Amino acid sequence: MSSQCVLLENARRIEPRLIEIRRAIHMNPELGGMEFKTSRLVAQVLRELGIEVVENIAGTGVLGLLKGAAGVAGSRMRTVAIRADMDALPIQDKKDVPYRSRVPGVMHACGHDGHVAMVLGAAMILAGVRGENKLPGNVKFIFQPAEEGPGGAKPMIEAGVLENPGVDMILGAHIWPEIPVGRVAIKSGAALASTDEIRIVIKGEGGHGAAPHRAVDAIVVAAQVINALQTIVSREVSPTSPVVLTIGTIQGGYRHNVIADEVTMTGTLRTLNPVVRMELPGKIDRLLRGIAGGMGASVEFTHIPGYPPTVNDSRIAELASRSAAKVIGGANVIREIEPSLGGEDFSYFLERVPGAFIMVGAGNPEAGITFPSHHPRFDFDERALATGAAILSQAAFDYLSESSDFLP
Ligand code: NI
Repeated sequence: MSSQCVLLENARRIEPRLIEIRRAIHMNPELGGMEFKTSRLVAQVLRELGIEVVENIAGTGVLGLLKGAAGVAGSRMRTVAIRADMDALPIQDKKDVPYRSRVPGVMHACGHDGHVAMVLGAAMILAGVRGENKLPGNVKFIFQPAEEGPGGAKPMIEAGVLENPGVDMILGAHIWPEIPVGRVAIKSGAALASTDEIRIVIKGEGGHGAAPHRAVDAIVVAAQVINALQTIVSREVSPTSPVVLTIGTIQGGYRHNVIADEVTMTGTLRTLNPVVRMELPGKIDRLLRGIAGGMGASVEFTHIPGYPPTVNDSRIAELASRSAAKVIGGANVIREIEPSLGGEDFSYFLERVPGAFIMVGAGNPEAGITFPSHHPRFDFDERALATGAAILSQAAFDYLSESSDFLP
């Protein structure tokens, strides 16, 4: 495995098969928790490679275990996991390509079809390495349901996918259309945000629109609250620690000449910092009570935790970057990239096991591949599949090969 291009060469050889798998899934997208055909296809490909398979984990989840060749590493054999998500989104596919979705109103608009193909590609490559008796540790392939919600990572962890054998390190990847195909970004530390939900109910006193002094106008209280909430972001959190608070819905009122007695708002609350995340609900609650109380209203605040921030281990990010450089050259590996305030339930794996989430460049403006994820015309440059498969397998191989002295 000294030649640095071996795994990429292998990946290029299987590229047509990866594109075929990706398109098969793309044409038959399945929503979170309903990935029945997708998981069957995953299990079938893994079995054909001689990989042990467990199906129906936390619903439609699939686990593959490729056992290392005993005695290659010398000491304790370590175990790497590589994870893919499988679910599509409730979006009508508006692309004009032969492989567009055949399911009305359902579409792979976040590249999870690509993640499945990429991780199956890594399984093909690493099964080949195992066939030559050169795999110095175990590799688990984790295919989870429902990343877009309600989340498949946590239930799969609870079902024991990180145990027996225990996983020492985990890798995940996401197709990233903002980065050109042929490049990847691997960040140390926080890469993606927490995704908590907030719900605010303001209770005033209804009345006639002509007599506001005899009522407590919940809409006026809500107006104060919406503006004041942004001071949580601007005045109560360090400016170096990003927080976003978006009120996404507001409902209240009956008629133009009636004072509303109640307003309900929901929103999303996101941050990269786990400590800030813990402090935010208390700050919001205090502010809400002050404003509502000061105006004679009352308020109910509910904080609904979403996914935690996705925080890469710096040592694994470094290792994966070196592996990626072997595959695509160091100039194509981006280490400094702005974090995104999007979220991922891969974060639950990273809370348990050190690892890295790799953003695989898949944009190609010349080919018109520019639409962001969750867009009805989202697509990606399929050359990303072989690149991603090669980098994931190279990083897994390098981790298993390196001395464990400096690695977790
Ligand atoms: Ni996604």
